[in-house]
Amino acid sequence: MIQPVTYKKSLAGKSNAHLITFDDGRDYVVKYFQPGFEKTLANEWVAYCLARYLDLPIPFAQLVEIPKEFSAGIPELSQITQTQFQFASLYVPDCFDGHQVTEVPAISNRENLAGIILFDYWMCNRDRTRKNIVLCDNAQGSYHLWIIDHAEVFDSYNWVAEDLEALPVTLLKSATHQIMACFIEKEQDFYEQLEMIQTLPIHLIEEIVALIPNDWNVTSEERKAIVTTLVIRRKKILKKLMERFIKRVYQPIHLKVE
Ligand SMILES: Nc1ncnc2c1ncn2[C@@H]1O[C@H](COP(=O)(O)OP(=O)(O)OP(=O)(O)O)[C@@H](O)[C@H]1O
Ligand SMILES: [Mg+2]
Repeated sequence: MIQPVTYKKSLAGKSNAHLITFDDGRDYVVKYFQPGFEKTLANEWVAYCLARYLDLPIPFAQLVEIPKEFSAGIPELSQITQTQFQFASLYVPDCFDGHQVTEVPAISNRENLAGIILFDYWMCNRDRTRKNIVLCDNAQGSYHLWIIDHAEVFDSYNWVAEDLEALPVTLLKSATHQIMACFIEKEQDFYEQLEMIQTLPIHLIEEIVALIPNDWNVTSEERKAIVTTLVIRRKKILKKLMERFIKRVYQPIHLKVE
């Protein structure tokens, strides 16, 4: 397992993320377990693993064990009561967020965009703000788009099992989804992604959920609720939400342009 070497800085935001260099020579954004934000790390973990399987552009991530002695020596970390594992996501350097790029001329990985939108609907991610995408200028008049920050999938960073039964089944208000929709070439992209999500093995979802570290305090009832919710949402409501998105957001944009 990679080990932390140098603390760089804390990053702005609710999750109290920290930028730390590890002994593989790379910088990672590390989130610690925080009281009041009990589901942040489990949400990040489940979203990361599923996004990877779906081949979405999410920075490489892993569970890490930061030694207590390392944290004790850093003022920003020393007050934290540590769990054994933290969530570390590879820092994408020299990029911009969606606010910093006022005009996006093109997206080089536009084949991923319908997948990201459907993923957000499946996971009920209401936090796909412009700050939660990273745009890297690839110097050919286009940007590569990465997705970050899945602390608020399942609609909250501190959900409990019964909340998952009552997740919203409405269109999400997201200017970022609107921007992404401009670059999606054909409606067919949405249907292909729907198929990917609907055929993802349930055993994989169960395995990912089982791997949530025990001291992140996700009860067995809550673990079951995650699996059930994902299975129900993909089977019963994702197609309807997708069709609503296509009709209300995607088609109006493309009719205007054509
Ligand atoms: N992998 C990454 N690569 C580059 N920058 C990142 C990465 N992850 C996070 N950041 C930066 O750190 C900030 C905080 O990270 P993140 O959005 O995951 O946490 P947050 O505290 O939950 O944010 P929010 O307040 O939006 O909920 C991001 O807005 C972004 O600027
Ligand atoms: Mg964020």
